[in-house]
Amino acid sequence: MTEQRGNWSSNAGFILAATGSAIGLGNLWKFPFITWNNNGGAFVLVYLVCIVAVGLPIMMAELLIGRKTQKSAVGALKEAVGPLWGLVGGWGVLCGFILLSYYTVIAGWSLFYFSKTIGWSFSGFPAGLDSGALFGEQVSNAGLQLGLSLGFSCATISIVYFGVQRGIERIARVSLPILFVILLLLLFSALGMSGSGEALAFIFRPDFAKLEPSSILEALGHSFFTLSLGMGAMITYGSYIDRNHSIVKASAVIVLLDTVIALVATVIMFSVIFSVPGMEDQVGSSTVGMLFISLPELFYSEVPFGNILGPLFYVLVAVAALTSTISLLEVVASYIIDEHGVERHKATLMCGGAVFVFTILAALSFSDVPILSTMHIFGDGDNAKIGWFSTADHFVSNWMLPTGGFAITVAAGWFMTREATEGELVDHTAPAWFKYGVWRFFIRFVAPIAVGSIIIAVIFFGVDFS
Ligand code: TRP
Repeated sequence: MTEQRGNWSSNAGFILAATGSAIGLGNLWKFPFITWNNNGGAFVLVYLVCIVAVGLPIMMAELLIGRKTQKSAVGALKEAVGPLWGLVGGWGVLCGFILLSYYTVIAGWSLFYFSKTIGWSFSGFPAGLDSGALFGEQVSNAGLQLGLSLGFSCATISIVYFGVQRGIERIARVSLPILFVILLLLLFSALGMSGSGEALAFIFRPDFAKLEPSSILEALGHSFFTLSLGMGAMITYGSYIDRNHSIVKASAVIVLLDTVIALVATVIMFSVIFSVPGMEDQVGSSTVGMLFISLPELFYSEVPFGNILGPLFYVLVAVAALTSTISLLEVVASYIIDEHGVERHKATLMCGGAVFVFTILAALSFSDVPILSTMHIFGDGDNAKIGWFSTADHFVSNWMLPTGGFAITVAAGWFMTREATEGELVDHTAPAWFKYGVWRFFIRFVAPIAVGSIIIAVIFFGVDFS
């Protein structure tokens, strides 16, 4: 490697970038939806336990492996654990590649709804417009889908192109504060709506009678997805941290922010939904339903200042998705940069281009393209994953992230020495509340058992996390 490796310019910059990776469609699109499907309350509580007991320790493990070796996923695991572990890193790179390819398509939808809501804010929401039909038309319009995802891919590529400080960190510094402000505005507006009380009760009042065993596994699976764990993204971001900052503190802040944002987004969406009689029955039939079918219309009929908040909301979704797509591309590009000595600009263009080929497949999955719209490998009946897009999402969420996460916990807990991990976590920067022994217990026992149970659930009981 000829050039000096990138580094974050400051701790705040790193934390914003990593938080940006974590906060994404998982928070705004998946979490509210699965909370809805799993009857709120008790599910949310279980999710919070998973975040603290599994997500937080693994976040620390990934960041420490990255910082220790100053290498991205493949090189880091090879150096920290052993040559064969490069395969686990490679699995992560592949996972990032596939995830990015279809994530970009959903991100593209936020651009579509942004432009729609801008129009509606000026001309009014068209009377009698069928939002479900509008959604169906846009996803099945092949040209539109290709255009939207190409636009989003170019944005992602052009940021990663400029590297860690001048690209990723700079965008995160601007985007994250904007995201927090928009979300806060939406929250104030939502709390004033008539359905907010019911929404809060639904989300925060646990009723364990409504909790199904599969919900526990779903909560665990989602905690990986939402924190960007299990595929080396945090190893890669960790590799750009210097030694003067505490990984423990950074992990706590990232995990806390991600969780708060997911909860706030859910409060906002449910407040809107509960304010409209009959709306409860309409949402929930599909994952995309809430974000792209129910909400757009409600901004114009229910939400105070919806004319302004509607477009802002879709900017929020796009920005949140962008700070996640850049981290996904960074995982793939940094592998080529670190392991194959390719220069960053070239590596970014190559990887971005290669991923886009697969984005095309995902973007066309809702048009009448044979195989892409009809392939069926996973699931049966109501749960069948039909088409390339759903197949890829299912494979990543149910197989790749849990298996990658399992390997990483085992690596950090059982294959790395106590000195190696303790040296990274416990130093003059470590906060007083941190107890290394507790972390070690969680990473050796609690996390692998929990994650192992997801994998077993998926294999033997066909549980679905996507
Ligand atoms: N955390 C992102 C979200 O909540 C999605 C994601 C999963 C991700 N794994 C990742 C993003 C790895 C970047 C890197 O939407």
